[in-house]
Amino acid sequence: MQQNKVVVNKNEVFKLFIPEQDIKTRISELAVELNRDFRDRVPIFIGILNGSFIFMSDLIREITIDCEIDFFKLSSYGDAKISSGNVTMLKDLNCEVEDRDIIIVEDVIDSGLSIAYIRNIIMQQSPRSFNVVTLLYKKEAAKINFPLNYVGFEIPTKFVIGYGLDYAQKWRNLKSIYVLDPSNDGTASTTGED
Ligand code: IMP
Ligand code: MG
Repeated sequence: MQQNKVVVNKNEVFKLFIPEQDIKTRISELAVELNRDFRDRVPIFIGILNGSFIFMSDLIREITIDCEIDFFKLSSYGDAKISSGNVTMLKDLNCEVEDRDIIIVEDVIDSGLSIAYIRNIIMQQSPRSFNVVTLLYKKEAAKINFPLNYVGFEIPTKFVIGYGLDYAQKWRNLKSIYVLDPSNDGTASTTGED
């Protein structure tokens, strides 16, 4: 049975936003596009830890072409409600990027700072191509100066949890995505690791 709401504490109630089944359906659609667009290639899917681990594992099992995977681990938010503007690398890649087709796998693009930082690092290593697949995209908040070709859901600038996304490191294990109920305080934060 699917929960309709998650009570984080008495002031912060999250309500069901994107049900498990809708996530699954959308991931299958994204995979069809990726399988088609990279059919003659062997792309490297690079997940951004921690948030993307569930999305990555579901997406990758819908990929039918040859591919490799690797992970970056970034830290950016600290305890602040808004991104600190400082992105630091906690785990680098183990693969060679040069002349490869790179597909970054993100849980959510919010300010766009993390993805800009990642893109910089990757572009310095001369990939054959650079693409991003993000499950969620807070379009109004994000400042991105390159195309996003694979977006699961465009969402409003609101705080969400579940399906890998945390609130103070918890709630990543929820099967669906939940949004902070606007009738409650709308200024939750994420902490520490992405
Ligand atoms: P950005 O650098 O502001 O684009 O944020 C990137 C990272 O912040 C994401 O990959 C998430 O890990 C985290 N983040 C952004 N928005 C949310 C949210 O609504 N819930 C949980 N984590 C978030
Ligand atoms: Mg993330």
